[in-house]
Amino acid sequence: MSGTSLDGIDVTLTSFSESDTFQLVNARTFSFPKALYNQLQGLIVNQTSTLENLGQIDIALGRLIGSSINTILAEQQLTAKDITAIGSHGQTIFHSPVGEYPFSLQIGDASVIAEITGITTIADFRQRDIAAGGQGAPLVPAFHQALFSSPNEDRVIVNIGGISNITLLPSSANQPVIGFDTGPGNVLLDYWIKVQQNKAYDHSGEWAASGQCNQKMLKQLLDEAYFKQAIPKSTGRELFNQYWCETTLARFTQEISSADIQATFAELTALTIANDIKAYAESSNSVFICGGGAHNIHLMNRLKSLLADKKVSTTMDLGVSPDWVEACAFSWLAYRTLGNKTGNLPSVTGAKHPVILGAIYPA
Ligand SMILES: Nc1ncnc2c1ncn2[C@@H]1O[C@H](COP(=O)(O)OP(=O)(O)O)[C@@H](O)[C@H]1O
Ligand SMILES: [Mg+2]
Repeated sequence: MSGTSLDGIDVTLTSFSESDTFQLVNARTFSFPKALYNQLQGLIVNQTSTLENLGQIDIALGRLIGSSINTILAEQQLTAKDITAIGSHGQTIFHSPVGEYPFSLQIGDASVIAEITGITTIADFRQRDIAAGGQGAPLVPAFHQALFSSPNEDRVIVNIGGISNITLLPSSANQPVIGFDTGPGNVLLDYWIKVQQNKAYDHSGEWAASGQCNQKMLKQLLDEAYFKQAIPKSTGRELFNQYWCETTLARFTQEISSADIQATFAELTALTIANDIKAYAESSNSVFICGGGAHNIHLMNRLKSLLADKKVSTTMDLGVSPDWVEACAFSWLAYRTLGNKTGNLPSVTGAKHPVILGAIYPA
C-alpha cells in the first residue's frame, strides 16, 4: 500500500485462517528513492508527464514493490512458496469517481510484481466497484467491519492518511456500515510545513500546536463544497492539493503568521472529521484512529477535545498498530478475491451491488 502522502510503501505480512482470524506477522515501510519520489510527485501534484514517462514510472514502482516484498520475506526466512498471494493497491495517480467516465488510476505494474516475487498478485482493486456505479473508495471499511466491529457497541474507525476516511460500524448486524472520505488528513499539514520549513511533516503536530487557529480563516476553509456534499463521496489530491491551499490562502487577505496557518489547517482537519462523526455516528461512544495522523499528538488532542463525550484512542486498543491497518486491508481484500468473495460495501461506495474486487496476476 502506498497512500496519498507518498511517505513510502507499506508492506505487511499477514495470515488469515479458515475461521477468518487475522494475524499481522511483520510490517515495514520502504521509502521511495528520491528520483522515483520526484517522478510520482510530478505525476500527482503537477500532473505533468508524457505517456512514455507514465509507463516507465508504472514499471519502476512495480519493481520497487516487488523487491520490497522480497526483502521482507528474506528477513522472515520465507520464500515465495510460503505465500499465498500479494494484494497490491499501488499508488493512486488520479481519482475521479464521478462524471460521465468515472475512473481511478493506480500504478505499480502487477505483472512485474508477480514476476519479481514469483507470487500471485491481486491488484486494480478499485475499478470493478466503479464499474458497478460505486466511488471505488473507500475500500477499507469492509476490512474494518470484519476485524473491528463489535456486537456490544457502535464503533467509529478513522483513517488519517493524506486524506481522512471514517467507517461507522453499528453493533447491530442489520444496520449498514457507513464510510466515506471526510476530506484532508495530513495533506494540508504536510504541504504547509514543506513550503515553510522544508520538512516532510509536522512531527507530533508541534508546529501546529505552537500557533493559534484563526477562526475567520477556518470559516472560509469550511466553505469548501466537498464538506457539504452528500455521501457516498471520496476525494484525493486532485482536490486537496497545493493549488487548493494556494487559492484558499490567497483569498484570505488578513495578516496571519505561518504557525497560525498550520494551526488553522490542523483545526480544519480535526473539525471536519469530528463534525462528520457527530452527524453520522452520534450513537457511537468509541472512536479508534489509524493512519499516520495517529502520531500527530496535536491532531489527536483536538479530536479528543472536539469529541469530548466519546472515547478517542487508536486501533492499537483493538490489537492492530495504526501504521499497518490500511496495508492489512489490502491483504484481506486479496484474500477475499482469491476466495471468490466480494470486497466492496455498496452502503459505503454506492455501488449497485457487491462485487469481487481486483484482477489476479498468477505467479
Ligand atoms: N510522528 C508523526 N507526527 C506527525 N505526523 C506524522 C507522524 N508520523 C506520520 N505522520 C503523518 O502521517 C503521514 C503518513 O500517513 P499514512 O497513513 O501513511 O498516509 P497515506 O496513507 O496517505 O500514505 C505523513 O505524511 C505525516 O503527515
Ligand atoms: Mg503512507
